Amino acid sequence: MTPNQPLAFDAGPTDVHTDHVAMLMDEVRDTADATARAARSTVLTPRFYTTDFKAMDALDVSPVRAEWDRMMDEYAGDNNQDHFKRDEAFGEELKQLMPQLSPELRQEFIDFLISSCTSEFSGCILYNEIRKHIDNPDIKQLMAYMARDESRHAGFINQSLKDFGLGIDLGNLRKVKAYTFFKPKYIFYATYLSEKIGYARYITIFRHLERHPDKRFHPIFRWFERWCNDEFRHGESFALMMRAQPHLLRGLNTLWIRFFILAVYATMYVRDHARPLLHEAMGLESTDYDYRVFRITSDICRQVFPVEVDIDHPVFRRCMDRLLAISQANDRAVARGGILGRLQRGVCMAQAVLTFGRLYLVPVKRHTLPENVRLDPVW
Ligand SMILES: [Fe+2]
Ligand SMILES: [Fe+2]
Repeated sequence: MTPNQPLAFDAGPTDVHTDHVAMLMDEVRDTADATARAARSTVLTPRFYTTDFKAMDALDVSPVRAEWDRMMDEYAGDNNQDHFKRDEAFGEELKQLMPQLSPELRQEFIDFLISSCTSEFSGCILYNEIRKHIDNPDIKQLMAYMARDESRHAGFINQSLKDFGLGIDLGNLRKVKAYTFFKPKYIFYATYLSEKIGYARYITIFRHLERHPDKRFHPIFRWFERWCNDEFRHGESFALMMRAQPHLLRGLNTLWIRFFILAVYATMYVRDHARPLLHEAMGLESTDYDYRVFRITSDICRQVFPVEVDIDHPVFRRCMDRLLAISQANDRAVARGGILGRLQRGVCMAQAVLTFGRLYLVPVKRHTLPENVRLDPVW
């Protein structure tokens, strides 16, 4: 998975954004706080997943064998082997830039790092667990490669948290955080999206800071270009696994695909708007950034999803803003507390469900799938 990438949503009805105000208001002071923050499982925070290992074991990739083997060669080549190490300039930049962060930006950035590290580690755990529980040589090898990458990613972000004295205790997190069961079909949809949207987020930030280096307030952003190629390849792996099971991509399953795209987009939109200073510091504006990321993700997803949500539809845009306003009202209700606060949260929950329903009804665009699945990360 990816920094800040959404495997954060929950498919079921949940307590919308319950911990959100607390998340933004609680200051993370030490490693225990950071680990506790990472252990929270809400609609807006990254979750840990488990799945049906038997079904994973039974997966047959022979319909996509040629593309599969090429992809496995790329993993074996491991072109990012030397990437997740700090260079000399990293420390210098850190020394120069860190004192310039305002306390508010520092908190938003720490929140971003914790959420990103948790997402990366979530991928690492899921891929590793699948690897351990199956014998299927194709899937086992793939999971080993992806877990390798995610573990590097999580470790690299955690180093930056340690600079603040806030490294997450990943061993402990693995034990204390709740696991959500998703059947493989949902893992495929959600994880594919998570990897691809993660790529889109990274590359958008990287390209933007390439043009505006004065806005690069932390050296970690320099790593994003090669990093996001890992995420892109992880997404390609899920694309191939889905194309090997074409029934997942047609009929009633397209309703699930539509649901997952909207859930992932809405989660990202609400969560990103809770960190306005982070985007502002980079010279980005949250809404504009999110739509750029949606556009790239939607372009990529045509390799595998026959339906595409219409991000330019006025109702889509209105519903996104409405969900954000509801989330903010919910935050205020949580802060208020008491019976009135609870009642208001109930109203927010109902409004969120209705708005999501309205969003779901926005007409989708339909495509036939391309013959060749694989794409290059050219954005
Ligand atoms: Fe990934
Ligand atoms: Fe990753």
